[in-house]
Amino acid sequence: MAVLVTGGAGYIGSHTCVELLEKDYEIVVIDNFSNSQPESLKRVSEITGKIFPVIEVDLRNREDVEDIFKQFNIQAVIHFAALKAVGESVTKSLLYYQNNLISLLNILDVMDQYSVQQIVFSSSATVYGDNGRSPLKEETHTGAVNPYGQTKLMAEKILEDLSASNREWKSVILRYFNPVGAHESGKIGEDPGGVPNNLMPYLSQVAVGQRTHLSVFGCDYPTKDGTGVRDYIHIMDLAAGHVKALQFLENNEGCHTFNLGTGKGYSVLEMIHVFQQVTGIPIPYQIVDRRAGDIAECFANPKKAEKHLEWKAVRTLSDMCRDTWRWQSSNPFGYHPQSKMKTKKASGA
Ligand code: NAD
Ligand code: WQD
Repeated sequence: MAVLVTGGAGYIGSHTCVELLEKDYEIVVIDNFSNSQPESLKRVSEITGKIFPVIEVDLRNREDVEDIFKQFNIQAVIHFAALKAVGESVTKSLLYYQNNLISLLNILDVMDQYSVQQIVFSSSATVYGDNGRSPLKEETHTGAVNPYGQTKLMAEKILEDLSASNREWKSVILRYFNPVGAHESGKIGEDPGGVPNNLMPYLSQVAVGQRTHLSVFGCDYPTKDGTGVRDYIHIMDLAAGHVKALQFLENNEGCHTFNLGTGKGYSVLEMIHVFQQVTGIPIPYQIVDRRAGDIAECFANPKKAEKHLEWKAVRTLSDMCRDTWRWQSSNPFGYHPQSKMKTKKASGA
């Protein structure tokens, strides 16, 4: 019996595969590699010393998804596969609705057909929009402000309705806050491809010399130092949360939603400061205008996951910066080693 990991070659998926294999789960990975490289999964094998099936499948194609269920004895699914760039979702909304929702509907439909009715779903803190005051609890009113966030809200609703219609269906919805960092080996990490949208990969590309400076988006928010505050969570803590979610599914009916965050908020300037301290590398930055759509503050109340999943984030912000830098400095171009751009020498990790 295996756990099917969709989107398993991606950032969160690849780290979760390591955690699953180390906990002796059998896995099958499917991905269309639209935002990832097969190399990440080769490295998962290197880290764990285990091999596992990897199949190129686009989840929008139901027949290909069904072939996987014909071929393998699947016991549960962790569904990571989705497009996730907020800005792109505004300009290519149809692509986002098609990719994220048709993929979900296909996997659920095939699961139902094969009586595999346990799923862990990747949602996001983005579903809270600008509604609640942090720390955010799961019952905070939701309201996404972009098509990407809407796909997550719609997906959550589909899973809730499915469990309500049939008690055999068990689902866990995980609302991730801001995943950062890399596996402690430095062999796998975040490889955004192109200009990073998110703070940590941008910051580490500045550190490695690929970008001249970081733009800090706004310094006039009502926060501790005027810059945006977020709940950064180490990717291996997040990965561990998925194993806990699978264990929870074995004994609990219905659809359950959990925040996965640390409960602590750090500002952009604090992130720069800690990164510099941990790595010894100066990060040039400039304060620029706010980024459209950003909110001042967003951090989790993680108590529900602590209580019911028996999960807690244990790694510190220094761990996140150290591990990000180990990955970035030993893989300056992510999984593409051929680039000729000049980089700084690694230090501090
Ligand atoms: P990622 O882009 O690194 O991984 C997603 C993977 O899904 C990629 O490997 C991509 O190739 C694959 N994929 C996309 N569409 C597919 C399709 N139609 N068929 C098959 N494979 C497909 O992203 P990630 O950061 O690992 O995110 C994983 C999940 O977590 C996503 O659902 C994302 O929305 C969610 N999430 C991510 C963050 C974050 O900041 N990284 C935060 C909250 C939620
Ligand atoms: C963090 C802070 C920025 C880049 C996004 C998605 C969300 C989720 C996680 C998927 C903010 C500031 C950033 C930069 C900066 N993804 N910043 N300069 O916006 O909290 O969340 O990723 O579900 O849906 O919206 O993360 O890393 O982009 O930004 O100053 O170059 O860093 O303004 O305060 P965000 P982020």
